[in-house]
Amino acid sequence: MEDRYAFLTEWYDPTAALLRRYQLFYYPQDGSVEMFDVKNRRMFLRRTKYDDIHQEDLFVGNRVNVFSRQLNLIDYGDQYTANKLGSKKERTLALVKPDAVTRIGDIFELIYSSHLIVTKAKMTKLTWSQAADFYAEHQSKPFFNNLVQFVSSGPAVAMELMGDEATSIWRKLLGPADSAVARKEAPQSVRAQFGTDAVKNVCHGSESLAAAARELEFFFPSTIGHGPSNTAVYTDCTCCIIKPHAISEGLTGKILNSISAAGFEISALEMFNVDRANAEEFYEVYKGVVTEYPSMVTELCSGPCLVLEIHGTDVPKSFREFCGPSDPEIARHLRSNTLRALYGKDKVRNAVHCTDLPEDGGLEVQYFFKILDG
Ligand code: CDP
Ligand code: MG
Repeated sequence: MEDRYAFLTEWYDPTAALLRRYQLFYYPQDGSVEMFDVKNRRMFLRRTKYDDIHQEDLFVGNRVNVFSRQLNLIDYGDQYTANKLGSKKERTLALVKPDAVTRIGDIFELIYSSHLIVTKAKMTKLTWSQAADFYAEHQSKPFFNNLVQFVSSGPAVAMELMGDEATSIWRKLLGPADSAVARKEAPQSVRAQFGTDAVKNVCHGSESLAAAARELEFFFPSTIGHGPSNTAVYTDCTCCIIKPHAISEGLTGKILNSISAAGFEISALEMFNVDRANAEEFYEVYKGVVTEYPSMVTELCSGPCLVLEIHGTDVPKSFREFCGPSDPEIARHLRSNTLRALYGKDKVRNAVHCTDLPEDGGLEVQYFFKILDG
């Protein structure tokens, strides 16, 4: 019999303001899809070839685009699919150490190129004792003090990565612990490319599934309010949101690289899953003013977004200019080097939000980093 994978999916229908459920079927043999409306019990999309969907994107927790609809994959539709596509999925911890936070864009690119996805991310500055806790297994090693000092010396970015055999894939991508050894033995690895020596070696990766579980709990605890805090400063700042569509299109690394290359300082960073009520509240000022308001809300809560605090003198103005006109088509004509010209699709899916008024920079940053950050 022909291979067929089945999923239960959810799609938010903005016109009806309803969550609709579909069964999604994928036929790997010819890359075709089929959708069935669960509630109305009828065929919604006849089997059609669709090139933009790939087998490696099909797992519970991920989102896929099918003819401009963002479908959340909420469950496997049958045991066959769960066994075949779900059994190797793992979550693991990646920690970008203080020596490499300015390379965060490149690191995102490498993660995506290995078919892993980033499901959580937070910039934090560990205290000495937090870093010592995190590295407790190395307490008796001669390099312990040095290591703890280094890891707590500046901001770091903790991330949860997900994918097939995420733990070993990420460890392999990192390469040997000593950057010099990495350059000899694994020249393509993260540590070979961006590392300095045996201490300053770019990133950490969990060594086993058990370590991953413990380390993820350390940075992203199941009890809210207990993890290491974010690094937002709330002054001389502006708020940038890398929108969900840009994240699902794999543009995060490129956008972060463009921001750094333009000389902007990212002083805080965190991934959020914004719910509808919060998206409406955050965009409140645009309600009744901008015709796209309802679609902007839908876009912001359609998947994870990455929120940045950009820090510097007069940064609300200069960063806004760098984002460019809100309509990417116009941006491409007038200011082709801006973020929206480079990465936007249309007025709603325009890659990034940025604060409009200089006096709102701190307030928008607070909305995410004080109110929504559990
Ligand atoms: O990080 P990884 O698991 O690959 O290596 P490890 O052997 O578990 O060591 C943990 C960390 O300690 C390394 O990533 C280095 O940052 C640091 N280290 C060090 O500072 N000096 C050494 N001689 C060895 C490791
Ligand atoms: Mg280790």
